[in-house]
This record gives sequence, C-alpha cells and structure tokens, in this order.
Amino acid sequence: MTIHTPVLTKEVLQYLNPTENENFIDCTIGEGGHTKLILEKTKPLGRVLGIDLDPGQIETDKWSMADFGDRLILENNSYANLKEIIEKNNFGPVAGILLDIGMSSVQLEGSKKGFSFQAEQVLDMRYDDRFNNLTAEKIVNEWPKQEIEKIIKEYGEEKFSLKIADKIIEERSKGRIRTTLQLVEVIKKAIPAAAQRGKIHCATRTFQALRIAVNDELGNLQRVLPQAVEALAPGGRLAIISFHSLEDRIAKEFFKNNKEIKILTKKPTTAGSSEIGENPRARSAKLRVAVKL
Ligand SMILES: C[S@@+](CC[C@H](N)C(=O)[O-])C[C@H]1O[C@@H](n2cnc3c(N)ncnc32)[C@H](O)[C@@H]1O
Repeated sequence: MTIHTPVLTKEVLQYLNPTENENFIDCTIGEGGHTKLILEKTKPLGRVLGIDLDPGQIETDKWSMADFGDRLILENNSYANLKEIIEKNNFGPVAGILLDIGMSSVQLEGSKKGFSFQAEQVLDMRYDDRFNNLTAEKIVNEWPKQEIEKIIKEYGEEKFSLKIADKIIEERSKGRIRTTLQLVEVIKKAIPAAAQRGKIHCATRTFQALRIAVNDELGNLQRVLPQAVEALAPGGRLAIISFHSLEDRIAKEFFKNNKEIKILTKKPTTAGSSEIGENPRARSAKLRVAVKL
C-alpha cells in the first residue's frame, strides 16, 4: 500500500507553532500528515479545518483520523473557495493556514486517474471529476498545438515541448490518444534517445504540465492567497509548500506585495539531505511563510 510521507514537517511546525487550543486550516489535507501533527500540538480543544478537492482523500481521512472526533472538520472542496468554506463552518479564530500544493503519493500511485506514467490508465488527471470537465485526454486530443506546446513548456519546463506537441498532433490524427502508456510512447518518439536516459523519466514533465493545466493549479493558488490572509487572525501564520517554480513565484510575489503580512522566510526553506534521502519528493519542496500583522 502506498503511503504519503509529508514533507518539511519539522519546519512547518516550527513556523506555524501550533499551541494548546489554537485553530488551523489545512487547505490540502491529503493523508493528514501535517494535520495529525498540528492536532497533537493543539490539544485538548484546538481544531483543524481540513480541505481536499479529492473525495477519495476525504473518505480515507474520515476513518483514519476518526480518533480526533470533532476537533477535525473535513471539507471536500477546493481551497479556491476558502472564504465560503470558513463561513459555512463558522470557523475561527485562525492561528495558521497551510497549503501543501500538488498531489500526494497516494494519488500518484494509488488512484486510477492517470497521474502516473508507470501504469496503463485513462488520461484523466482530475482531482475531482464532479465539477471539472477538462481531462488530460481532452487537452491532448482537442487543444490546438500552440496551447499544448505552451503548457508543456511553461508548466512542465520541458525543453522538448515543441517536438512533443508536434508528435502529439501527428499521432492523434491517426486516432485518439486515450491512455497514459500511449502518451508515454508518443513522448518517446518525440525526443532524442539520449534524452530518454536521464535520471528523470522523459514523460515526467509532460505529465506534470497536464496535471497542472487540468486542475488549474496556478489559478487556484492565486485565488486562495488573498482569502487566506483575510481569514487569519492578527499574528496568524500562512505557510505554503510548493514543488514547482511557477507556484513558488506566485507565493513569493504575493508575499512581497501584500501589505497585511510580514515575510518570515527571506529565502524559501528547503529539505535537508537526510529528508531528501528518505523522501525523494522533498527534493523540490519549497516552504514560504508569512505572518499577518
Ligand atoms: C501534497 S498533497 C498534501 C499532503 C498532506 N499535506 C499530507 O501530509 O498528507 C496535496 C493535496 O492537495 C489536494 N488538492 C489539490 N488541489 C486542491 C484544491 N484546489 N483544493 C483542495 N485540495 C486540493 C490534492 O488532492 C492532494 O490531496
């Protein structure tokens, strides 16, 4: 069974500094790795409002964290709707908010949504298919070449974006590209053999780009940040863990331009070598924290 190992836990706790009876919001509760630690520190009455867009994650959390009782409130929703979620739950005062952006190892390896290029699955990649009609399959088969190239280049930071987009257009004219492994084959045909032998699988960047586009991850991050600052009590901390340079840039710029907060991390905090050794996902994690004035 796949387990998600939370990243930068020591640093998150140090900055959020949860203490007795304080309330926190975990905008991306996932498997609850960070939330469990926060709930331990905020005993006996502190509460966590835990949000996740993936209904599967929320279902898992319901039984895996049942011991916390009504100290944990779970919401299957997008953090882009943070203000509304807080109002619905009449939640506060808020001592800290955490965003740990992206997907969890469980979604990568355990879901059947096509996040992974290692297993044959349909190209879906939606965290939640109830409100979102855009799938990776739709992008690959229906978007114009320029749009496909753009997301692979920008969200995937893939230097062979044009070659991959060209090949996608060529292959889809023969029939729809429906599955993960079909797409991997297209990518392999598009890029030079030498580039396929790198440390990182040659489909990694294209898959990342599609996931970010399908779920509008950058747009959602931009939407949540002002709502998070508004929700915090004075002295409350906002912690953002990102795994992608564009996400980190959004957080950095927002922090720099917002007059209601003070930045606590001049440079983003990153994982040490021992954490990276134990959890390779931590390699690209960057933590930025600010405090509400
Ligand atoms: C990196 S994981 C979080 C892991 C978590 N911190 C833990 O320790 O288990 C990111 C989570 O964010 C969720 N997610 C992605 N986009 C979201 C959104 N717009 N709103 C709410 N949750 C979202 C994903 O479904 C995933 O479970």
